[in-house]
Amino acid sequence: MIIGQEIKHYKEVSSTNDIARELARQGAAEGTVVSADFQTGGRGRQGRTWSCPAREGILLSVILRPDMLLDQSSLITLLSSLAVVRAVENIYSIKPSIKWPNDIYINNEKLCGILTESGSQGDRMDYVIIGLGFNVNSDIKDLPVGSISIKEIIGKISLREEIQNEILTQLDYYYNIFTQRQTEQIIKEYRQNCLLLGRQVRAVFKGKNIQGRALDINEQGALILRLDTGLEIELYSPEVEIIR
Ligand code: BTN
Repeated sequence: MIIGQEIKHYKEVSSTNDIARELARQGAAEGTVVSADFQTGGRGRQGRTWSCPAREGILLSVILRPDMLLDQSSLITLLSSLAVVRAVENIYSIKPSIKWPNDIYINNEKLCGILTESGSQGDRMDYVIIGLGFNVNSDIKDLPVGSISIKEIIGKISLREEIQNEILTQLDYYYNIFTQRQTEQIIKEYRQNCLLLGRQVRAVFKGKNIQGRALDINEQGALILRLDTGLEIELYSPEVEIIR
């Protein structure tokens, strides 16, 4: 197992992604994990924040160094969400869904968010940071609106370490598949767990608001949409909203 061979745990950091990026730039080994009990400046996608009460959730970032071209990085985002889905299934026998590209939902409420950031050397990846925030033991009143925790779902406290270990095990499994170039398997499993397929959605494409039906996920991890005009497009920008 590569992922989690070294885990650097902190009581409080600004953002585990920032610490991981600094370590990656200093040459930290692939698979190094940075975790924290609390973040003072947790970051989400699209400039949003990520907040979670101290010691109630999983806040971690994993450093990967895939020997690949930059345009493959969206597949790492997809495989990370798949790893979280499998971890929850294995521990709780509950089946979460993925809102493309990498939000994990249970009953229309967000359980886990993933922020993937990368550094490049030319057109190749130097490092990829998978930053993952997972709500474990929080009460709903302490979470952002629209979020849920495992405690609210199963009605009791869980051991954060158990979930974290299972997520890292699954991440290692799917990352191995990825490095062996068996990306079709990842896409196939991802499709089976993706909340958007078949749904009518709203999104932004080339600066314009669009609507259409989500048809598929392609080998690059893009969402294929059939617009109401009949035109099919590949969407890479992650802001998608389900209409029905
Ligand atoms: C999102 O849903 O927009 C992504 C949220 C990602 C949050 C995690 S928490 C650990 C890591 N450190 C950060 O600052 N962000 C990610």
